[in-house]
Amino acid sequence: TNSNVIFYLAAYLVGSIPFGLILAKLFANVNIKNEGSKSIGATNVLRVVKQTNPSLAKKLGVATVILDALKGTAVLIVAMLLNMPQETLWAIAVLSVLGHCYSIYLGLEGGKGVATGLGVFLILIPIPTLIGAIAWIFCAKVLKVSSLSSLLGLTTVVLSAILLNNQLEVGSNAPMYIIAFIIYYKHIPNIIRLIKGEEGKVI
Ligand code: G3P
Repeated sequence: TNSNVIFYLAAYLVGSIPFGLILAKLFANVNIKNEGSKSIGATNVLRVVKQTNPSLAKKLGVATVILDALKGTAVLIVAMLLNMPQETLWAIAVLSVLGHCYSIYLGLEGGKGVATGLGVFLILIPIPTLIGAIAWIFCAKVLKVSSLSSLLGLTTVVLSAILLNNQLEVGSNAPMYIIAFIIYYKHIPNIIRLIKGEEGKVI
């Protein structure tokens, strides 16, 4: 229906807002798209800003995670309040993550979908996501490698959802797999660095 299209468009356009890039530009006057991993996510904000201002880097990193997660939940919550069906909610979730990873404002470049994925998963599959978030935090503390922690956290969310037999009320887990696939796909350069032992510690 027409209102669905408006929601899908809103999800993609809001998901596309590059908060990390904006915050790093505004408060540290750096363009994170040209530095570090060139990603617009919290990890790269932390990595790049840390070089000049470590305490600011932490604040901006945390703010980026929160805002990137919230932009995933914003349209979703409105749609939920309007009693949209589960299929529509999941489509909104996929488009929010897609917006973050392939931003319309950045020539379809962007981030890796972890924080935005966290936001939408928290709303749609809260229990598996909380389990995954605990795994993510634990891995980050122990391994101190952001990308690996993200990938292990994401894998924990997916496995927990499967084990808890979560059919997501859409008849299949397909939208969850699509989101996970986008995030894994965007991490290919990180995975290559991890295999070569070249992925740096950031946290
Ligand atoms: O959340 C993104 C993180 O998993 C990796 O970011 O900048 O190290 O590629 P980055």
